[in-house]
Amino acid sequence: LAVHGGAWAIPEEMVEPCRAGVARALDSGWQVLARGGSALDACQAAITALEDDPVFDAGIGSHLNRDGRVQLDAILMDGRTLKSGAVVAVERIRNPIHLARLVLDRSEYMLLAGSGAEQFAEEMRLEFCNPADLVVPREQELWAKNRQSASQGLGAGTVGAVALDAQGNLAAGTSTGGPPGKYPGRVGDSPLIGCGCYADNRTGAVSTTGYGEAMMKVVMAKTTNDLLAAGPRRGRGRFEPQAAAEKALALLRERTGGTGGVIIVDPRSRVGAAFTTPRMAYAFRTSDYLEPIVRV
Ligand code: GLY
Repeated sequence: LAVHGGAWAIPEEMVEPCRAGVARALDSGWQVLARGGSALDACQAAITALEDDPVFDAGIGSHLNRDGRVQLDAILMDGRTLKSGAVVAVERIRNPIHLARLVLDRSEYMLLAGSGAEQFAEEMRLEFCNPADLVVPREQELWAKNRQSASQGLGAGTVGAVALDAQGNLAAGTSTGGPPGKYPGRVGDSPLIGCGCYADNRTGAVSTTGYGEAMMKVVMAKTTNDLLAAGPRRGRGRFEPQAAAEKALALLRERTGGTGGVIIVDPRSRVGAAFTTPRMAYAFRTSDYLEPIVRV
């Protein structure tokens, strides 16, 4: 199991809260795997913990859009069936990853947007929150400052998880509030299959973080998975997950000038974590490691 809390220039004062947040999320997901639970349940549990932590740009504590509102995107993908469930631009759902899971399990669709996603949530009897419940003072201040200076920051603090379970199934998920001051209705890479996450039992599971408008251009998560499968030279072995993650980030930089981060796990339980930003908050644990690895 690996989790991330975003790749960006995490300021010194946020390092410890980010470290604690990814450690807690890893623990939530690991408990699921340790009792024989599925990779999907582990990813959902880890991402729920990250959405509930106001330090990250997902769920409560997300960046506000240009209109001063939180609009959330999330995706969960099943590596066994290749089906994903995603929701975009939802405003009244405290944990969009729960709604993404319902789209995955209980609908014939892969992605539901805005009012339609919330209508589906109502039909699924998912509890609604007040949109104001998702707003924290730190983000209100940032929004007010950005309005005055008309500047917009880059996305920061998107969260995600990848997991392999005892049945050999892989899963991946990602959740975000997107960049600060985004245009209302703007959807980035995170909830798009192949961009924000990808999982295929045959190759690997990937969750990404970075500036959506760059990540989408190279279909970041699927590109990473394809590199893992293809290896350095066609027909000559496979890339290690770490090498695939680094190669994909190099491609992102080369083709778009963008930076970001990637976590990946393969069917042999090998984990990779790479980033080209100043920092990334991430944590991982496998049955080979007695202790979790937590880094910011
Ligand atoms: N990767 C987060 C976003 O751009 O929406």
